[in-house]
Amino acid sequence: MAPEPTYYITTPIYYVNDAPHIGHMYTTLACDVLARFKRLDGYRVRFLTGTDEHGQKVQKAAIAAGLTPLDFTDRVSGNFRDLAAHMHFTNDDFIRTTEARHRRSCQALWQRLIERGHIYLGSYAGWYAVRDEAFYGEGELIAGPGGEKLAPTGAPVEWVEEPSYFFRLSAWQAPLLRFYAENPDFIAPDSRRNEVISFVAGGLQDLSVSRTTFDWGIPVPGDDRHVMYVWLDALTNYITAVGFPDVECADYRTFWPADLHMVGKDILRFHAVYWPAFLMAADLAPPRRVFAHGWWTNEGQKISKSLGNVIDPNEIVARYGLDAVRYFMLREVPFGADGDFSHRAIVGRINGDLANDLGNLAQRSLSMIQQYCGGVLPDPGPLTDDDRVLLEAAGRLTDRVRGHLERQMFHLALTAIWETVASANVYVDRQGPWALRKSDPPRMQTVLSVLAETIRRIALLLQPFIPDAASRLLDQLAVPAAERGFAALAPGHRIASGAVLPKPSGVFPRFVEDGAAGTEKAGKGRG
Ligand code: MSP
Repeated sequence: MAPEPTYYITTPIYYVNDAPHIGHMYTTLACDVLARFKRLDGYRVRFLTGTDEHGQKVQKAAIAAGLTPLDFTDRVSGNFRDLAAHMHFTNDDFIRTTEARHRRSCQALWQRLIERGHIYLGSYAGWYAVRDEAFYGEGELIAGPGGEKLAPTGAPVEWVEEPSYFFRLSAWQAPLLRFYAENPDFIAPDSRRNEVISFVAGGLQDLSVSRTTFDWGIPVPGDDRHVMYVWLDALTNYITAVGFPDVECADYRTFWPADLHMVGKDILRFHAVYWPAFLMAADLAPPRRVFAHGWWTNEGQKISKSLGNVIDPNEIVARYGLDAVRYFMLREVPFGADGDFSHRAIVGRINGDLANDLGNLAQRSLSMIQQYCGGVLPDPGPLTDDDRVLLEAAGRLTDRVRGHLERQMFHLALTAIWETVASANVYVDRQGPWALRKSDPPRMQTVLSVLAETIRRIALLLQPFIPDAASRLLDQLAVPAAERGFAALAPGHRIASGAVLPKPSGVFPRFVEDGAAGTEKAGKGRG
């Protein structure tokens, strides 16, 4: 028997200085879809998320809240855990960098780097941005509105002078460039890959990897005046969670190197430059792929606390529904590009794609089976070319969706599924089963059976994206739980005729605006 394929996917671990917002939800959502897809496709999956709890930024936020860092991080980390539960994310683990397993892992990684001569003691004098938890060279700074110096990200910077350990990053320029050349799929999308390569080709300076002017961090082994630089600490979470430093344990051997680190474009450099350099220096394998997604704006505006337009994921889910938000975020924007969250756009997707295209297809097909076939899935008779064309398109869909998701192209996967939804709607109109009912009942049965099979395939493939609606659809088609994995999409696998279907009910309600009152409420599903 072939060994079970495995898949290890990670989100960034979130800073606990702030409440979770739509940007955090987006990264985890993308991972959740991939994790669900891979599980259904027969993989043994490890899906990791968690919180990044050390460093100056978190320490400052704790002080501002009048709490000790640990009390503060317990509280905010809890909000992230609650979000994962509320969004029905299927992470297998939730790591906190304040856990003992992580401290042990970071110190062991440090030890490996020291032993191999990649870390040395020196002193740092330069610019630091607490908001980014990043060091910047003088040449990278930009001038703020009042002429003050700012990081290229717009974050305020402060001058720092302190003893510091350094990682010999400069020695990793050539090995990194070789690694990128030999692993063309390591960084996606391509535009980001080119950015990283030109950054590295431009030369790398040694990286300060410890701080002494505050103490909220993991102590450097053997020199506890220093705490580790928060990015070295944070990145290490990905190996901690699979058992590092025990590189012989089953989890580590099964899941490392990770298949995919999903990150936002702002933190690509840490993942695609520093992280593989640390790992290679420690004689550990670098991850297989890093995907940098884009950023969301809110009604065209940059999302920021000072603008007061931060989108609370719980609020939008309460307003539009979880499946609708999931669908919208992954369908609206080519994954990798920036996107805009607007009320008009999401309502357009709900009423157009979900209620009208998919909802209608399901509702009218299922109602006809109910009304014309007594709710029993009919037997198909001989197939016409028209039937075959639709069934073949539905059959090809599995590989198309799989191929797009292999490259994290969520929007293309959903576009492909909706092409089949559209073809099926055209097919119903052309075949007119309501008229065949009188003129040619066996032919009507074949048409309804072809539709049921097409909807079954669509609903199976939609499970990772819109899990609740897809499972309601599969319930209405009486597809048993054991038949919902993608093995049931193998060629030749068809919906079982003779099954008794429950009474159909609308899967997607339309979003109805109450213009007069200026508020919205979800309307009733339409048939
Ligand atoms: N703690 C670090 C990551 C360490 S991983 C070893 C961090 N945390 S974060 O909480 O600031 O950001 C986490 C993720 O949220 C990043 O991938 C970031 O790109 C994403 N987003 C934050 N705001 C966003 C938007 N407005 N839109 C989309 N994603 C955004 O960085």
